[in-house]
Amino acid sequence: MTESFRRRRWATRLMTAVTLCFGIGLTVVASVRPVVADSPIQAAVPRALRLPATPYRYAEVDLPEHVRELAARFDNTPAENPITDAGATLGRVLFYDVTLSANGTTSCASCHRQEIAFTDDERLSIGFDGRRVGRNSMSLINLRYYARGRFFWDERAESLEAQVLQPIENEIEMGHDLASLVRQLADDPLYPPLFQEAFGDVEVDASRIGQALAQFIRSIVSFDSRFDRGLARAGSVDRPFENFTEEENHGKSLFFGEARCASCHSADPHRAAPHVADPLHFDATQAAFFFVDQPVANGIDVDDFERTDPAVDPGLGGITAREEDFGRFKSSSLRFVELTGPYMHDGRFRTLESVVEHYNWSIRPHVNLDRRLQNLESSGLGRAQSDVDALVAFLKTLTDAKLLTDPRYSDPFVESPGRQSRLTPAAKPPR
Ligand code: HEC
Ligand code: HEC
Repeated sequence: MTESFRRRRWATRLMTAVTLCFGIGLTVVASVRPVVADSPIQAAVPRALRLPATPYRYAEVDLPEHVRELAARFDNTPAENPITDAGATLGRVLFYDVTLSANGTTSCASCHRQEIAFTDDERLSIGFDGRRVGRNSMSLINLRYYARGRFFWDERAESLEAQVLQPIENEIEMGHDLASLVRQLADDPLYPPLFQEAFGDVEVDASRIGQALAQFIRSIVSFDSRFDRGLARAGSVDRPFENFTEEENHGKSLFFGEARCASCHSADPHRAAPHVADPLHFDATQAAFFFVDQPVANGIDVDDFERTDPAVDPGLGGITAREEDFGRFKSSSLRFVELTGPYMHDGRFRTLESVVEHYNWSIRPHVNLDRRLQNLESSGLGRAQSDVDALVAFLKTLTDAKLLTDPRYSDPFVESPGRQSRLTPAAKPPR
């Protein structure tokens, strides 16, 4: 065997070994020191991460043609926090880490589960110590393209960077406090290397935690539902889609037309409410996003004028205290809506049929009822059952199943036997 042949053989073996390691993915194992005195669970649990040797791609998104121009206009990514692969990777680990909660039981993913479009199954979400939050969990898909860049049902968070820190300190949701979380993460062997990769040095601070979580959430984008494929081929929502059934096409015509849904759920936030003059005007400029243009009142509650009923959530009015804001809420994008129930800010409707029934028969009078629903109080759209069914069938075309199992958005923690977790994603019953 010649020297050069031997060397070549070794080189081949080395390459194979390297390839194998990369293929399987890099597993970082570390045990967690008892850093927070009052949370014994964290001390007892050895934790490990499985991350790919080359980070997943988060920074570049391959947007289909039919959304590219709008996506650029609606993108709420701030110049000072662009998505990087390493930043979103850190965000992903934080998102799934139960030690972000006071007692080590609850992560962001406890209430935002990938397999059900980053929502939960509860009418009102359950926090770290079993108490219920006052509202229904919201989907986290395509938040990057909510042009107003404000978050929560009442838009009280001014940016995604500000929003993502609030659940951590919320006394029902995660109950932790940021100052001790910063110390805890700095002492946790899992984190310094991830902060180093993401920000160039190992320093942990609250603003970096917020930036990384926001990067991860902004990376969760989806434009590959049956609706997208139909739109890409047809070129306009006004034409029938080849890949739709007759019922789905009928539902689409209603949604973008007479049923007025698109006038809110696909309206352009950059335009000065053109629909005010003509409530029947529909605006499909944002047809690929299915966001509302602004928080509005959609007639699910009666306004009692005195506002004495504590059961009625004031929505935006609770934040601004302005008369015209009471009863106004934003809505999540209707993408994946098939999976995001229960529906509305308080999860009052269990099924999509009951949501459409609301618009069809029971829109309630409210001083701030949006103009786009006026003249429908107490009667609703009053369409035939076949129209209700068609609308529901159309809404179900907005799901992109691939995203629900995309490894880039999955739990990076390796399950260990002793690990306490509420993350036991039982399959959601079909509704
Ligand atoms: C206990 C359940 C729970 C946990 C834990 C939780 N959330 Fe939420 N999330 C909710 C609920 C409920 C809402 C709506 C709350 C509201 O509007 O008042 C929400 C809203 C949001 C929104 C706003 C979406 C929009 O379209 O406006 C974002 C973003 C979000 N959560 C991210 C996170 C992140 C990041 C974490 C972890 C740091 C987290 N959540 C932890 C339940 C939870
Ligand atoms: C006036 C504007 C407006 C119109 C018109 C409208 N919606 Fe809504 N929709 C909203 C708002 C605002 C919410 C959130 C309200 C809340 O939770 O308090 C909402 C919520 C929803 C939800 C629940 C979303 C979730 O994540 O919980 C669905 C589904 C829905 N609408 C479908 C429709 C359909 C179908 C139509 C047409 C029949 C329609 N909407 C017409 C404004 C509107």
